[in-house]
Amino acid sequence: MKGMFAAGNGPVQISAEAIAKRVQELGAQIARDYQGKTPHLVCVLNGAFVFTADLVRAIPLPLTLDFIAISSYGNAYRSSGEVELIKDLRLPIHGRDVIVVEDIVDTGLTLAYLLDYLEARKPASIRVAALLSKPARRQVEVPIHYLGFEIEDAYVYGYGLDRAQFDRNLPFITSLRPEEE
Ligand code: XMP
Ligand code: MG
Repeated sequence: MKGMFAAGNGPVQISAEAIAKRVQELGAQIARDYQGKTPHLVCVLNGAFVFTADLVRAIPLPLTLDFIAISSYGNAYRSSGEVELIKDLRLPIHGRDVIVVEDIVDTGLTLAYLLDYLEARKPASIRVAALLSKPARRQVEVPIHYLGFEIEDAYVYGYGLDRAQFDRNLPFITSLRPEEE
């Protein structure tokens, strides 16, 4: 039931129901792995805001949450790998069990930059939760401990991810055909 929301014609289509089920599974897995600990989640703005909102409510543990904003240069649809920090963390991560929450790992350059940046602040541990991964486009190897969906190389949007800033409010994930990008 999509209502007024329009899906694209690309090959990747993930329903709201499928996302909800997977997010519950990831939350349960994180809760098992961090039993007795107090994880500190770092949401990477803007794209991960919807995923983070659902994921934290699927983790029945005491946890803390912070936000960091990163901008990667490039055209409206593709990152170039050059990264700029737009908004820094508010809370210290020294000694914390950090879980980075990302929307999508594409080339991996953004995440590699972010992991270096966070590791310099000496957290006790650091893991990555990513909703989506496009392994075909990877340029640097990056760890993803909690992955929602592995997808083929199409431009995806919805559920927090944008298409030229619009469509973050789609409750599902959809994609463009390559010629539409
Ligand atoms: P890299 O290449 O550094 O890219 O792993 C990560 C960031 O690039 C953006 N990105 C996308 N955003 N649909 C989007 O809405 C996509 O298909 C897509 N591919 C890459 C995104 O900001 C991600 O954090
Ligand atoms: Mg993004």
